[in-house]
Amino acid sequence: MTVEICPSMLSANATNLGAELIAVEKAGADAIHWDIMDGNFVEAITFGAHVVAAHRKLTSLRFDVHLMTEHPDTHLDSFIKAGADVIFVHPETCPHLHRTIDTIKSAGKKAGIALNPATDIDCLKYCDADCVLVMSVNPGRSGQKFISSQLKKIAKIKELFPQLKICVDGGISDSTIRACVENGAESFVTGSFLFKSEDYAEAIKSLRANGCKD
Ligand code: DX5
Ligand code: ZN
Repeated sequence: MTVEICPSMLSANATNLGAELIAVEKAGADAIHWDIMDGNFVEAITFGAHVVAAHRKLTSLRFDVHLMTEHPDTHLDSFIKAGADVIFVHPETCPHLHRTIDTIKSAGKKAGIALNPATDIDCLKYCDADCVLVMSVNPGRSGQKFISSQLKKIAKIKELFPQLKICVDGGISDSTIRACVENGAESFVTGSFLFKSEDYAEAIKSLRANGCKD
Protein backbone atom coordinates (compact mmCIF):
# COMPACT_ATOMS: atom_id res chain seq x y z
CA MET A 1 0.00 0.00 0.00
CA THR A 2 1.20 3.45 -0.83
CA VAL A 3 0.45 6.77 0.81
CA GLU A 4 -0.49 10.00 -0.92
CA ILE A 5 1.79 13.00 -0.33
CA CYS A 6 0.35 16.48 -0.78
CA PRO A 7 2.76 19.41 -0.32
CA SER A 8 1.23 22.56 1.17
CA MET A 9 2.27 25.67 -0.78
CA LEU A 10 2.00 27.64 2.47
CA SER A 11 5.47 26.40 3.43
CA ALA A 12 7.02 26.93 0.00
CA ASN A 13 9.37 29.83 -0.76
CA ALA A 14 6.81 32.60 -1.36
CA THR A 15 9.10 34.48 -3.72
CA ASN A 16 9.17 31.50 -6.06
CA LEU A 17 5.91 29.57 -5.79
CA GLY A 18 5.79 28.37 -9.40
CA ALA A 19 9.29 26.92 -9.30
CA GLU A 20 8.55 25.32 -5.93
CA LEU A 21 5.42 23.67 -7.32
CA ILE A 22 7.33 22.25 -10.27
CA ALA A 23 10.10 21.07 -7.93
CA VAL A 24 7.73 19.12 -5.67
CA GLU A 25 5.99 17.62 -8.68
CA LYS A 26 9.35 16.45 -9.98
CA ALA A 27 10.15 15.11 -6.51
CA GLY A 28 7.10 12.83 -6.64
CA ALA A 29 4.19 14.71 -5.03
CA ASP A 30 0.70 13.31 -5.65
CA ALA A 31 -1.30 16.54 -5.27
CA ILE A 32 -0.85 20.19 -4.32
CA HIS A 33 -2.48 21.46 -1.11
CA TRP A 34 -3.52 25.14 -1.08
CA ASP A 35 -4.12 26.61 2.37
CA ILE A 36 -6.55 29.48 1.92
CA MET A 37 -6.74 31.73 5.01
CA ASP A 38 -8.87 34.84 5.29
CA GLY A 39 -7.64 36.60 8.43
CA ASN A 40 -10.97 35.83 10.14
CA PHE A 41 -11.44 32.11 10.68
CA VAL A 42 -7.69 32.07 11.29
CA GLU A 43 -5.39 35.05 11.81
CA ALA A 44 -3.27 34.76 8.68
CA ILE A 45 -4.15 35.78 5.13
CA THR A 46 -2.70 33.64 2.37
CA PHE A 47 -3.73 32.98 -1.23
CA GLY A 48 -6.68 34.22 -3.29
CA ALA A 49 -8.27 32.28 -6.14
CA HIS A 50 -6.20 34.19 -8.71
CA VAL A 51 -3.01 32.71 -7.22
CA VAL A 52 -4.39 29.19 -7.50
CA ALA A 53 -5.59 29.89 -11.06
CA ALA A 54 -2.17 31.19 -12.10
CA HIS A 55 -0.53 27.96 -10.96
CA ARG A 56 -3.15 25.74 -12.60
CA LYS A 57 -1.36 26.17 -15.92
CA LEU A 58 1.90 24.77 -14.54
CA THR A 59 0.81 21.25 -13.64
CA SER A 60 -1.81 18.59 -14.07
CA LEU A 61 -1.44 17.45 -10.46
CA ARG A 62 -4.64 17.48 -8.41
CA PHE A 63 -5.30 20.75 -6.58
CA ASP A 64 -6.73 20.37 -3.07
CA VAL A 65 -8.10 23.65 -1.74
CA HIS A 66 -8.40 23.88 2.04
CA LEU A 67 -10.72 26.77 2.84
CA MET A 68 -9.92 28.23 6.26
CA THR A 69 -12.30 31.12 5.69
CA GLU A 70 -15.56 32.43 7.03
CA HIS A 71 -18.46 32.15 4.57
CA PRO A 72 -16.78 29.56 2.33
CA ASP A 73 -19.95 29.37 0.19
CA THR A 74 -19.11 32.76 -1.25
CA HIS A 75 -15.69 31.47 -2.41
CA LEU A 76 -16.64 28.09 -3.88
CA ASP A 77 -17.32 29.33 -7.36
CA SER A 78 -14.06 31.27 -7.70
CA PHE A 79 -11.90 28.38 -6.46
CA ILE A 80 -13.74 25.92 -8.70
CA LYS A 81 -13.09 28.23 -11.65
CA ALA A 82 -9.46 28.54 -10.50
CA GLY A 83 -9.02 24.80 -10.98
CA ALA A 84 -9.65 23.18 -7.60
CA ASP A 85 -10.27 19.44 -7.85
CA VAL A 86 -11.04 18.91 -4.17
CA ILE A 87 -12.41 21.51 -1.73
CA PHE A 88 -12.26 21.09 2.05
CA VAL A 89 -14.51 23.21 4.25
CA HIS A 90 -14.65 23.51 8.04
CA PRO A 91 -18.07 22.71 9.55
CA GLU A 92 -17.69 25.67 11.97
CA THR A 93 -17.94 27.99 8.97
CA CYS A 94 -20.89 26.26 7.25
CA PRO A 95 -24.35 26.75 8.75
CA HIS A 96 -25.70 24.54 5.95
CA LEU A 97 -22.89 22.01 5.64
CA HIS A 98 -24.98 19.49 3.70
CA ARG A 99 -25.78 22.10 1.08
CA THR A 100 -22.16 23.27 0.84
CA ILE A 101 -20.95 19.71 0.26
CA ASP A 102 -23.70 19.26 -2.30
CA THR A 103 -22.72 22.45 -4.14
CA ILE A 104 -19.11 21.29 -4.45
CA LYS A 105 -20.15 17.85 -5.70
CA SER A 106 -22.70 19.26 -8.12
CA ALA A 107 -19.85 21.17 -9.77
CA GLY A 108 -18.16 17.82 -10.43
CA LYS A 109 -15.52 18.30 -7.73
CA LYS A 110 -14.68 16.20 -4.68
CA ALA A 111 -15.94 17.56 -1.38
CA GLY A 112 -14.10 17.23 1.90
CA ILE A 113 -14.81 18.13 5.52
CA ALA A 114 -11.91 19.52 7.57
CA LEU A 115 -12.10 18.76 11.29
CA ASN A 116 -10.31 20.93 13.83
CA PRO A 117 -8.63 18.98 16.63
CA ALA A 118 -11.53 19.69 19.01
CA THR A 119 -14.26 19.08 16.42
CA ASP A 120 -16.23 15.85 16.73
CA ILE A 121 -16.89 13.50 13.84
CA ASP A 122 -20.70 13.68 14.17
CA CYS A 123 -20.99 16.13 11.29
CA LEU A 124 -19.73 13.46 8.88
CA LYS A 125 -22.86 11.42 9.46
CA TYR A 126 -25.49 13.15 7.36
CA CYS A 127 -23.29 14.72 4.69
CA ASP A 128 -22.25 12.81 1.64
CA ALA A 129 -18.62 13.99 1.59
CA ASP A 130 -15.91 12.22 -0.40
CA CYS A 131 -13.11 12.76 2.08
CA VAL A 132 -12.21 14.11 5.48
CA LEU A 133 -9.21 16.22 6.48
CA VAL A 134 -8.24 15.44 10.05
CA MET A 135 -6.41 18.49 11.38
CA SER A 136 -3.60 17.24 13.60
CA VAL A 137 -2.71 20.85 14.49
CA ASN A 138 -4.95 23.84 15.05
CA PRO A 139 -5.39 25.55 11.69
CA GLY A 140 -3.59 28.80 10.95
CA ARG A 141 0.06 28.13 10.38
CA SER A 142 2.62 25.52 9.47
CA GLY A 143 5.39 24.13 11.62
CA GLN A 144 3.30 23.13 14.64
CA LYS A 145 3.58 19.96 16.69
CA PHE A 146 1.45 16.94 15.75
CA ILE A 147 -1.46 16.45 18.20
CA SER A 148 -1.48 12.71 18.85
CA SER A 149 -5.04 12.58 20.25
CA GLN A 150 -6.14 12.83 16.61
CA LEU A 151 -5.02 9.25 16.02
CA LYS A 152 -8.08 8.02 17.91
CA LYS A 153 -10.24 10.23 15.74
CA ILE A 154 -8.70 8.77 12.57
CA ALA A 155 -9.42 5.24 13.82
CA LYS A 156 -13.01 6.13 14.72
CA ILE A 157 -13.65 7.67 11.30
CA LYS A 158 -12.20 4.57 9.63
CA GLU A 159 -14.52 2.41 11.70
CA LEU A 160 -17.73 4.42 11.31
CA PHE A 161 -17.27 5.96 7.85
CA PRO A 162 -15.18 3.44 5.86
CA GLN A 163 -16.26 5.04 2.58
CA LEU A 164 -14.44 8.32 3.41
CA LYS A 165 -10.87 8.87 2.28
CA ILE A 166 -8.94 10.04 5.34
CA CYS A 167 -6.36 12.80 4.86
CA VAL A 168 -4.24 14.21 7.69
CA ASP A 169 -3.01 17.80 7.88
CA GLY A 170 -0.50 19.21 10.35
CA GLY A 171 2.80 18.15 11.85
CA ILE A 172 3.30 15.27 9.43
CA SER A 173 6.89 14.00 9.33
CA ASP A 174 8.74 10.73 8.89
CA SER A 175 8.13 10.06 12.59
CA THR A 176 4.37 10.86 12.75
CA ILE A 177 3.08 9.44 9.46
CA ARG A 178 3.27 5.77 10.40
CA ALA A 179 0.80 5.94 13.31
CA CYS A 180 -1.67 7.77 11.08
CA VAL A 181 -1.46 5.04 8.43
CA GLU A 182 -1.87 2.35 11.09
CA ASN A 183 -5.08 4.03 12.21
CA GLY A 184 -6.52 4.26 8.71
CA ALA A 185 -5.27 7.43 6.99
CA GLU A 186 -4.04 7.35 3.42
CA SER A 187 -3.35 10.92 2.32
CA PHE A 188 -0.98 13.40 3.95
CA VAL A 189 -0.34 17.11 3.76
CA THR A 190 3.27 18.07 4.24
CA GLY A 191 4.41 21.64 4.86
CA SER A 192 7.50 22.34 6.90
CA PHE A 193 8.88 18.79 6.88
CA LEU A 194 9.14 18.84 3.09
CA PHE A 195 10.01 22.46 2.37
CA LYS A 196 12.65 22.69 5.10
CA SER A 197 14.41 19.62 3.74
CA GLU A 198 17.48 19.91 1.54
CA ASP A 199 16.22 17.37 -0.96
CA TYR A 200 12.49 17.25 -1.76
CA ALA A 201 12.66 13.86 -3.48
CA GLU A 202 14.42 12.32 -0.48
CA ALA A 203 11.90 13.87 1.93
CA ILE A 204 8.94 12.47 -0.03
CA LYS A 205 10.65 9.11 -0.31
CA SER A 206 11.19 9.04 3.43
CA LEU A 207 7.53 9.91 4.11
CA ARG A 208 6.42 7.09 1.80
CA ALA A 209 8.87 4.60 3.31
CA ASN A 210 7.86 5.43 6.87
CA GLY A 211 4.18 5.55 6.03
CA CYS A 212 4.22 2.24 4.21
CA LYS A 213 2.50 -0.53 6.16
CA ASP A 214 4.28 -3.47 4.56
C1 DX5 B 1 -2.44 24.53 8.84
C2 DX5 B 1 -2.48 24.10 7.40
C3 DX5 B 1 -1.51 23.03 7.06
C4 DX5 B 1 -0.07 23.39 7.28
C5 DX5 B 1 0.76 22.15 7.33
O1 DX5 B 1 -3.43 25.47 9.04
O2 DX5 B 1 -3.77 23.62 7.09
O3 DX5 B 1 -1.74 22.59 5.72
O4 DX5 B 1 0.41 24.24 6.28
O5 DX5 B 1 2.07 22.49 7.66
P1 DX5 B 1 2.98 21.53 8.55
O6 DX5 B 1 3.16 20.26 7.75
O7 DX5 B 1 4.26 22.29 8.71
O8 DX5 B 1 2.27 21.28 9.83
ZN1 ZN C 1 -4.21 22.63 5.10
